[in-house]
Amino acid sequence: MIARPVNLPNVPRGELLSSGRNLTKARVYAQQREGKPAVLKSVSHQILCVRWLAGRRGLDREERAYRLLAGVRGVPALLARSGPDFLECERIEGRRLDHCPRRSLPLEVFDRLQQVIRQAHERGVAHGDLHRRDVIVDGSDYPWVLDWATAMVRAGPGGWLRAALFRRWMEVDRRAVEKLRRRYGAGGDTGADPLEPAWWPHRLIWRLKRLGKPRRPSGGQAR
Ligand SMILES: Nc1ncnc2c1ncn2[C@@H]1O[C@H](COP(=O)(O)OP(=O)(O)O)[C@@H](O)[C@H]1O
Ligand SMILES: [Mg+2]
Repeated sequence: MIARPVNLPNVPRGELLSSGRNLTKARVYAQQREGKPAVLKSVSHQILCVRWLAGRRGLDREERAYRLLAGVRGVPALLARSGPDFLECERIEGRRLDHCPRRSLPLEVFDRLQQVIRQAHERGVAHGDLHRRDVIVDGSDYPWVLDWATAMVRAGPGGWLRAALFRRWMEVDRRAVEKLRRRYGAGGDTGADPLEPAWWPHRLIWRLKRLGKPRRPSGGQAR
């Protein structure tokens, strides 16, 4: 078994890009690695039990996903895992989707995003929590998917249960892309009913909440 490198408290950290929205989130720093723009994700600030139960596991999942997705355009390259609490990857320059005005982006951005997600699925990785803070659109309108800490890989123990979960994860990804397309794609939201949630308990609650509410026209549904 390959030993994990020891935790390096002196990994250089640059400008703070994200201080972590809650206790379980990593801190993200902008830095340079071998002259190239990089980001460092660090969970070293977390209290030990959170770090063990959530932080490091998230970085492990992310590292695994990046390794399997190496070379896919739209997924940052893994640069280093400089200790169990640190992961470095390529820094993507561009605009995060949540900083873009609604319905402002060409629909091709979302066709490309769909392709990125499809390629990830073909390589056996599903993101599982794709939202607008995890997508950066670069200067040539290419979307880059960040934050694979929730990713699930198809290969591994678990037999049919794992296979079923993986199918569910892929479905969640596909719906997330459609949701983003409707919200940020130019002409994407045509007033059609919102997408139903993918998971059946959520779908049941969603349908109950909508009982008796007037339906909007279904014409022009997003693809
Ligand atoms: N590779 C990257 N390139 C540019 N910015 C990044 C990159 N990775 C993360 N960020 C920035 O840091 C924020 C948080 O990173 P993320 O990986 O989503 O961690 P978490 O959601 O767990 O806090 C992102 O929303 C983005 O603004
Ligand atoms: Mg994120």
